[in-house]
Amino acid sequence: MKIEDVGRPGIDLAAPDWVRHDALKTWVSQVAALTRPDSIVWCDGSQAEYDRFCQDLVTSGTFRPLNPAKRPGSFLAWSDPSDVARVEDRTFICSIHKHDAGPTNNWMAPDEMKTKLRGLFDGCMRGRKMYVVPFSMGPIGSPLAHVGVEITDSPYVAVSMRIMTRMGRAALESLGATGEFVPCLHSVGAPLASGEKDVVWPCNKDHKYIVHFPEENAIWSFGSGYGGNALLGKKCFALRIASTMGREQGWLAEHMLILGVQSPEGRKSYVAAAFPSACGKTNFAMLIPPPAFEGWKVTTIGDDIAWIKPGPDGRLYAINPEFGFFGVAPGTSYQSNPNAMDTMRSNSIFTNVALTDDGDVWWEGMTDQPPAHLVDWQGQDWTPDCGRKAAHPNARFTSPASQCPSLDPDWEKIEGVPISAFIFGGRRSTTMPLVMESFSWTDGVYLAATMGSETTAAAAHKVGEVRRDPFAMLPFCGYHIGDYFDHWLEMGHRVSNPPRIFCVNWFRKNADGKFLWPGYGENMRVLEWVVDRCAGRASAVESPLGWMPAEADLQWGGLSDGVRAGFRDAMTLHREEWVRELVLHEELFVKLYDRLPKEFVLKRELLLAALWRAPETWVPRAA
Ligand code: GTP
Ligand code: SPV
Ligand code: MN
Repeated sequence: MKIEDVGRPGIDLAAPDWVRHDALKTWVSQVAALTRPDSIVWCDGSQAEYDRFCQDLVTSGTFRPLNPAKRPGSFLAWSDPSDVARVEDRTFICSIHKHDAGPTNNWMAPDEMKTKLRGLFDGCMRGRKMYVVPFSMGPIGSPLAHVGVEITDSPYVAVSMRIMTRMGRAALESLGATGEFVPCLHSVGAPLASGEKDVVWPCNKDHKYIVHFPEENAIWSFGSGYGGNALLGKKCFALRIASTMGREQGWLAEHMLILGVQSPEGRKSYVAAAFPSACGKTNFAMLIPPPAFEGWKVTTIGDDIAWIKPGPDGRLYAINPEFGFFGVAPGTSYQSNPNAMDTMRSNSIFTNVALTDDGDVWWEGMTDQPPAHLVDWQGQDWTPDCGRKAAHPNARFTSPASQCPSLDPDWEKIEGVPISAFIFGGRRSTTMPLVMESFSWTDGVYLAATMGSETTAAAAHKVGEVRRDPFAMLPFCGYHIGDYFDHWLEMGHRVSNPPRIFCVNWFRKNADGKFLWPGYGENMRVLEWVVDRCAGRASAVESPLGWMPAEADLQWGGLSDGVRAGFRDAMTLHREEWVRELVLHEELFVKLYDRLPKEFVLKRELLLAALWRAPETWVPRAA
């Protein structure tokens, strides 16, 4: 990423002695000359440094320390109401050729974008400190890990990066003097005139750009301080840039949780699952099996991103490149996810949740009874009858993974863990069955590629509309989605023992709008069937779409007949709904026709034929 020399920044450029990377020093000096910060802070990642930044954030009003008796070492931040989620329509893949970004990404020619960005970044850090944040995605020293350096003018981003990544001196030292890193440039886009008082959540209301240059592995982000817009190791690097690196180098960067499942006999397998944003990855990754599953254990490797590479034994191995969780707060409770609740008991940052009168946090769904009084995420008095939400629907907690009680002992294994199954799941109130297994790798790739989901509050768009979200990667694939499908087909054929592929849908509803499946811990019943299928231990029925469990193929101990009736409804295939679904597949396919794998066209025909051959309404029944 070239920045022309725009002269000397006129501030102290001296780096600490542990910074021995000349290319990094040059880049930092160029960025400083362009953005004109007051000073440069090289982040070593120490606890003392973290504490100092948090204290600065308290002084500036961005952080409110929470009651140390209730929530030790934790802080609350309220963002600007205009800066609360990822901005997909302001996110760009600036490949040299437009067709390499594909029809699902925003594109602009790199030169044109750079001119625009240079204008925006010119002087944009005036009156602020510039933090240089080296970080490793993946355990330092792992053959699957990669290093990035984020330059940011947001101390909130710097402290969040220390929780979310392996941040600081060790990450930089792993590069030696010449190792490659992904340069990630971030500014909130709110320079301060001399003497001007800062606001608690600086951002730029008029200009937001989240930009990726895949041919240079570079990221420029301007105008937002929130989540995936600003913590550039996460979606920008670990998904968009990494997916392009993986395509070239023969690996996969996916929007997937990774979990371990151990049977009472001690059989252990690992599963990676892709659900769109705010569709249950964190919940599934931290699942606690119901009492009927005594002796079963689910362990957490990651809750959002997986990097996956073929191993020497012909299996696919996965690491979690992250170091913490940036999880959806609303709906999280000791009932729905006790492991997440315990993870965030201390040393956590809460963003856009409500403040209780005793200095703790609260959000919708945390307790059955809301507190009688709160201060809501916009700083206003809140009572249960006021008609407003106390927390923003995309409010988040940022917590160290090391605090998670269900963390897998092998979560930092540098070679990763072998994956037995991939699971794909959207949020669908109709059509999609609770669970099925694809007939083959190619069929599985088809099902994942054509996945649909109702949109959520995790991004700034209309909530609740069904859109195609291939592999839960629609907002995160750094290149042409048709090429991405092809890469997946390739990967399955390159390894001798690929994982099996499954689809799930926890979100199907009845005519009254109630969920047909209880979900959460009860998803263990589906998970057991999945891992047993992979081990050749569970039976299934052949449906028009794939293999499905008959009622007798799942364990039902502890559940009522009502739940079993819900299961039957959630497994039912209606031809009419599926014909409509296949029209939507076609709609996706024509958009990317020039790069669509041929198999998909044929597979769609086969599906249609199978649906017409089967009864209009189809329910899995054991033979
Ligand atoms: P990102 O962090 O945005 O990538 O999302 P995520 O997939 O990790 O989201 P998370 O696990 O935080 O999903 C939260 C939402 O999913 C909440 O609305 C939950 O109520 C809902 N949810 C999670 N698991 C289940 C389930 O098994 N059944 C139902 N009905 N809802 C669920
Ligand atoms: C998502 O939206 O999928 C997230 C949250 O995981 S963010 O990091 O903001 O993208
Ligand atoms: Mn996510």
